[in-house]
Amino acid sequence: MAYVVTEKCIRSKYQDCVEVCPTGCFYEGENMLVINPDECISCGSCADECTAEAIIEDTEAGAEQWVEFNRKYAALWPKITSQGEVPEDADEWRDVEDKLQFFSEAPGKGDA
Ligand code: F3S
Repeated sequence: MAYVVTEKCIRSKYQDCVEVCPTGCFYEGENMLVINPDECISCGSCADECTAEAIIEDTEAGAEQWVEFNRKYAALWPKITSQGEVPEDADEWRDVEDKLQFFSEAPGKGDA
């Protein structure tokens, strides 16, 4: 079992999740984070911390596509273990639906 990040993270990217992750299994894209599901120990701390409710368990309905999505980008993006810059308009994006259209494949800076 693992937790994964969904499209609700896109353009909100609060990064409170990375601060509580005991295994450092978050990876940073330009406008969202993902979890490496193979490194996640399913503690659930990150899901509790995310005010965008962007993190779900891989057993939830509809989670399958996000597991593959998280695995794919975790292999491409740099690791992030501490909170970086939060987008100024993060709150404005929090409740926007269907954010996948705004997804960027570009990597973030990671623990630069
Ligand atoms: Fe994204 Fe929530 Fe983390 S918005 S960066 S999953 S705290």
